[in-house]
Amino acid sequence: MSTVPLSEETVLEALRKVRYPGLSRDIVSFGFVKDVAVGGGNVSFRLSMTTASTEVGAQIRAECDTLLRTLPGVTAVTIAVETGQAPVNLAGAQADRPDILPETRFMVAVASGKGGVGKSTVASNLALALRQLGYTVGLLDCDIYGPSQQMMMGIDEKPVLDENEKIVPIERYGVRVMSIGFLMEADTPVIWRGPMIYKAVEQFLGDVAWGKQDFLIVDLPPGTGDAQLTLTQKVALSGAVIVTTPQDVALIDARKGLAMFQKVNVPLIGLIENMSGYECPKCGHVEPIFKTGGGEKTALQLGVPFLGRIPLDPRIALSGDAGMPIVAAEPDSVSTKAFLALGEAVVKAVGA
Ligand SMILES: Nc1ncnc2c1ncn2[C@@H]1O[C@H](COP(=O)(O)OP(=O)(O)OP(=O)(O)O)[C@@H](O)[C@H]1O
Ligand SMILES: [Mg+2]
Repeated sequence: MSTVPLSEETVLEALRKVRYPGLSRDIVSFGFVKDVAVGGGNVSFRLSMTTASTEVGAQIRAECDTLLRTLPGVTAVTIAVETGQAPVNLAGAQADRPDILPETRFMVAVASGKGGVGKSTVASNLALALRQLGYTVGLLDCDIYGPSQQMMMGIDEKPVLDENEKIVPIERYGVRVMSIGFLMEADTPVIWRGPMIYKAVEQFLGDVAWGKQDFLIVDLPPGTGDAQLTLTQKVALSGAVIVTTPQDVALIDARKGLAMFQKVNVPLIGLIENMSGYECPKCGHVEPIFKTGGGEKTALQLGVPFLGRIPLDPRIALSGDAGMPIVAAEPDSVSTKAFLALGEAVVKAVGA
């Protein structure tokens, strides 16, 4: 009986059977296996997955170990695992931030390459989640094409000026809200020209009495064009969360979003997958409707942290339409827990 001699190639070939948990792709094609060395019966390599969690790292390591020990001739296996959510390096970006809002510690944008993926929904619920975690939070709707935070946060009044002629944000659910929609008349489509947009946004930032706050969550308009690029520069962001959906095509949009933030040196906090499987309101079971795992795969491919999944839940849409985000409306729901987990991930990433 002839056996294939043990070599780097045979080790790599064997490791192609190991999949990243929950995904159909293997760890070799992801490029996670590095520096394979074979000496006698000793096999060693590095498992380099800086965006994966340590639990995932341990799981993959155990699987590789078991598998390699079944190869003829292998007597010892050494695997160095490099994991852990790469901390977002906010220090540089923070230092470069213009001092527009010195009393705001972290300005975090919620963005997406594509419209309708749930940015505004994520922005409002993230704001409420951070508030619930004990932080002071503002929410700024910068969506010049279709501001939605007034509706989602249940606001039907206009803000007033304080004694210093500053606009006072309207507080809802413990969050201070300011929207570009306050400057627009209802049902009047406004054609914004570039300079008008930037003036309005600058006014928001400079002329709003935000006061001291830990976070300002910024709901950006969809897309990655010039308008978005200029907005991201004007608002001097600390970091950005990109919202994506489970489908594979979302990778292209997420990549565009990442490229936009890189252009203006805004660190990416990570990717959140929205509408990720249907949560049955009766039994709580989460049924994947689109293929799941797309967001995590995209994050791995882009080398950015994966922040988790928000289920496709009709109550998220209903509560948003009714002006009370689900984090306030259904505090015990699976969806609320998912938003709280996102809040915790953001807190951890920025080191708040
Ligand atoms: N996880 C979810 N489950 C169910 N419905 C959702 C979910 N996330 C968002 N929606 C619904 O999808 C629609 C689009 O969401 P939203 O307005 O937040 O997206 P957006 O990315 O801000 O859109 P735009 O690009 O137009 O600003 C809304 O009706 C919202 O209620
Ligand atoms: Mg929106």
